[in-house]
Amino acid sequence: MTNFRSDFPIFSTHPDLVYLDSAATSQKPQSVIDAVTDYLTTTNSNIHRGTYSIAEQSEDLYQQSKARFAQFIGWSSEAEVIYHYNATACFNLLAQSLVKSGILTPGDSMILGVPEHHANIVPRQMIAEQYNLTIRRLPIDENYTLDRSVLLSLIDDTTKVISLSAFSNVTGDMPDLSRVRQIVGDDIFFVIDGSQILGKYPINVTTLGADVLIGTAHKMFSLTGLGMLRMQKKRITSLTPARWGGWAIAEVTRDNYELQSDIHGREAGTPNVVGAVSLLAAIDYIDSIGWVEVISQHDQELTQYALERLQALPLCAIIGSDLSSFEKSVAPWQGGGPACGRGFLRGWVISFTLDTITKNALAQHCADHQIAIRCGGHCTFPFWHDIWIDGWCRISFHAYTTPKDIDILITTLRNL
Ligand code: ALA
Repeated sequence: MTNFRSDFPIFSTHPDLVYLDSAATSQKPQSVIDAVTDYLTTTNSNIHRGTYSIAEQSEDLYQQSKARFAQFIGWSSEAEVIYHYNATACFNLLAQSLVKSGILTPGDSMILGVPEHHANIVPRQMIAEQYNLTIRRLPIDENYTLDRSVLLSLIDDTTKVISLSAFSNVTGDMPDLSRVRQIVGDDIFFVIDGSQILGKYPINVTTLGADVLIGTAHKMFSLTGLGMLRMQKKRITSLTPARWGGWAIAEVTRDNYELQSDIHGREAGTPNVVGAVSLLAAIDYIDSIGWVEVISQHDQELTQYALERLQALPLCAIIGSDLSSFEKSVAPWQGGGPACGRGFLRGWVISFTLDTITKNALAQHCADHQIAIRCGGHCTFPFWHDIWIDGWCRISFHAYTTPKDIDILITTLRNL
């Protein structure tokens, strides 16, 4: 198994750190840190406004970042990528604009998966309350996988939007979104939450037929403070800005304003240029080590290993599909399909409970041994309430995680 730990300086600062919380945020490789330092040292300036050289270089880097991100998710036009504060901000922007653009009108319904993150749920609950909309929930089956067999029964003439995560931050499930698109047809607005999959497994918005893909940069080796929203060009003009001000406008008079009709109208104020530079460097890093062939494969092997070791612990329950899912998955390098097309079934997030200890005590015990894990409901409270479990502990990996990290965790759990 390839080991990229030495690319990440946090592990030089904390050699004994066992970092198993990459679903919360990823660590940053030296190349991203260097790119950010270099930008701030040589090029720092605002964009869209200056004609001097470093302002033009900054503008160029910002646009390069968007073009690169668009290409990274299988879409070639940078004009369709909007940068915002984070994925949650993108979901808020989208929810309001779905109403303002008339895609959702009073009486309409939206479908959400049961294990969705609050970022996908709460902005929709807000618009449901404001505009008399209904939310229908796509349940999970006994393997904690979205139960597509009931999808058709949730759809009627009122159904206008379906919004699903490509990778659950609790169960590690990667639902077959290609199949979902086939079932719901082309008329329903299809939103994919890519926050946990980007940088881990390849995802192609064109193949999946997504109208929108939302992601967050800090979980893919970049800085915090940058969310990405990719939307079809024809939809962009109907997006209602989430913030109003400079650059977003075509004209402002004493009494009125006119917005720019393209994505610039959705990015008022100074954007996160440093974040954009970090994302560009992060995609370079991912490309340099090999996305499908290396990161995804590393993840599959490590997840399988961690499941084997956790499942062997007495009184340990996995909240998600178990080892048997690996027998059914056929990875691209084995001739199978991509992520979200049922090539892979699950990955790098493992939630579990131990009957012998509460989740808080377990997380504290790990923290005392320099093992970073999370416990709680992981921003998926409706899922938590559905499965009647009072929270769980979660471990999550990235390219720098090693089998030794898993071994240290298991030894620590055995010594409870
Ligand atoms: N959404 C992040 C997580 O799942 C913070 O941990």
